[in-house]
Amino acid sequence: MTMRAVILISGRGSNMQALLEAGLPVDFACVISNRPEAAGLAIAARHGVPTVVIDHRQHDGRAAFDAALAEEIDRHAPDLVILAGFMRVLTEDFVRHYANRLVNIHPALLPAFPGLDTHARALAAGVKLHGCTVHFVTPEVDAGPIIAQAAVPVLADDTPETLAARVLRQEHRLFPLAVRWLAEGRVRLREDGGTALLPARDGDVDDALISPTG
Ligand code: GRF
Repeated sequence: MTMRAVILISGRGSNMQALLEAGLPVDFACVISNRPEAAGLAIAARHGVPTVVIDHRQHDGRAAFDAALAEEIDRHAPDLVILAGFMRVLTEDFVRHYANRLVNIHPALLPAFPGLDTHARALAAGVKLHGCTVHFVTPEVDAGPIIAQAAVPVLADDTPETLAARVLRQEHRLFPLAVRWLAEGRVRLREDGGTALLPARDGDVDDALISPTG
């Protein structure tokens, strides 16, 4: 059976676009934005995906907004709810309602740099590798089980903008890959709170990314 997914966005929508264009075995039932001006809405419409705006400013508080959002999402009965640049903290009730079917992409190698301004913070910390993470969402922000990560080198003359662009290129590869694995039923939650990809591929383990390369 094809997996049904709903994507939530707040803005540009480039990760959503990467998902829609990846030829995934996924039925994208709807794209929902909390901002009417989100550029990603037009991209979704161009791909023939229905769009809905649920403006958080029209709701009285976080709980009311999340309830309206959940009502719309549940109309589509999705197997997976994908946060693709959705810039709102969600209530615990909402997150629990979608336990194990809510995923997010974060622009850092979690657990390093949860929250905002990840690229500037990575530069300030002097890390030599940075990247992005696809993870299940749990009530604690940016702390759920990690499904997949992509790492990029941090270069000596990087600015937050150049680093963000390098990470974003990998986000556009990583998110479709992770969603494909989810759609294929290959991602398992482990009892220790982590995840495992099945079947494990033994040959991949020697691929280290070393930075700087000298
Ligand atoms: C991405 O960097 C994503 O990791 C973060 O917000 C940004 C959204 O960009 N959560 P886009 O809307 O997908 O272009």
